[in-house]
Amino acid sequence: MTKLDFKGKRVLITGGAGFVGSNVVERVQQCDGVAIVLDDLFTGTLDNISDGVKYEFVEGSVTDRKLINKLVKEVDYVAHMAARNIIISTKNPREDYETNIGGTLNILMAAREHNIKRVVYTSSASVYGNPRILPITEDERTLTFSPYSVSKLAGENYCHAFYESFGTPVTAVRYSNIYGPKQDPSNPYCGVVSKFIEAIDNDLPPQLHGDGQQTRDFTYVDDAVDGTLLALLSEKAEGSVFNVGTGVETTIHDLFRMISELLGKEIKPTFVDRRDIDNIRRRAVSIELIRTRLRWQPQIGIHQGLKRTIEWYKSETDSN
Ligand SMILES: NC(=O)c1ccc[n+]([C@@H]2O[C@H](COP(=O)([O-])OP(=O)(O)OC[C@H]3O[C@@H](n4cnc5c(N)ncnc54)[C@H](O)[C@@H]3O)[C@@H](O)[C@H]2O)c1
Repeated sequence: MTKLDFKGKRVLITGGAGFVGSNVVERVQQCDGVAIVLDDLFTGTLDNISDGVKYEFVEGSVTDRKLINKLVKEVDYVAHMAARNIIISTKNPREDYETNIGGTLNILMAAREHNIKRVVYTSSASVYGNPRILPITEDERTLTFSPYSVSKLAGENYCHAFYESFGTPVTAVRYSNIYGPKQDPSNPYCGVVSKFIEAIDNDLPPQLHGDGQQTRDFTYVDDAVDGTLLALLSEKAEGSVFNVGTGVETTIHDLFRMISELLGKEIKPTFVDRRDIDNIRRRAVSIELIRTRLRWQPQIGIHQGLKRTIEWYKSETDSN
């Protein structure tokens, strides 16, 4: 793990009760920072934050300008992670617009007013659409194929505009398919890894959308958290956008196969029609920029990451 120092620093984590956010909360506390969680508990839950981790919790929305202004005024750093996810956003683009774009604007306006040390904004590799070359570098053109990618890119563009116009210290990270502990399969919006683990463990055939040959770059959550917090602290990160991924392409069918093997199950998947959100064929992101500039690179390969995720899943199901 990367050495990070938040000693005595107050960090506002919007979406801190969510999958990645709760992992960030724990890491900030481990690094002697004070974590303040803002979450409307839309998909998140405080159960995601492990027992014994100290944090302050405010239940509320990033769309609440007054609340955001008050909270941002009292902190040194902001990790802005609250967002409506791709499924909600596709069903209800207005809700996505208000949270993902409006919420980000609220954070940036408050950060500007209160001279925050840094805002890190969690964007998504979905802004690349179907890329022309792999692995995708940060200067690849963006192509928005879903309302979610529109709003994530708009958030990034606002970050860039605030940096250029007002010198607001911001950094954006573009996540590529994060998986790992706390990605709860009972959450209908969770990612494919936890859905497959739950289905296969229960001897149910997981659903593969389309032919299963679409690829993704799966990133273990601890690595993503490290990359995010380095981007929050490093002077060299200010004003930049970094991919956070592994550079490795894995087909959904191979993912299914690896999880089946790790669980020791022989099960056939069900192939179902692709959904409206399944319009990206291949993805693997280049991590050269973050590797050379911030000295970050993923530590956990897919096999090891899946193993750890399955261990977490087993411990959760055993304790319930
Ligand atoms: N998980 C991934 O693979 C992935 C990939 C790309 C980008 N991201 C980005 O990373 C961030 C975290 O994603 P995640 O996977 O942890 O999702 P998540 O749904 O688990 O977490 C999002 C959190 O934000 C909260 N939230 C939603 N709307 C809110 C609002 N209006 N006000 C306050 N809180 C609100 C939710 O309750 C939840 O706790 C998001 O910004 C997401 O767009 C995630």
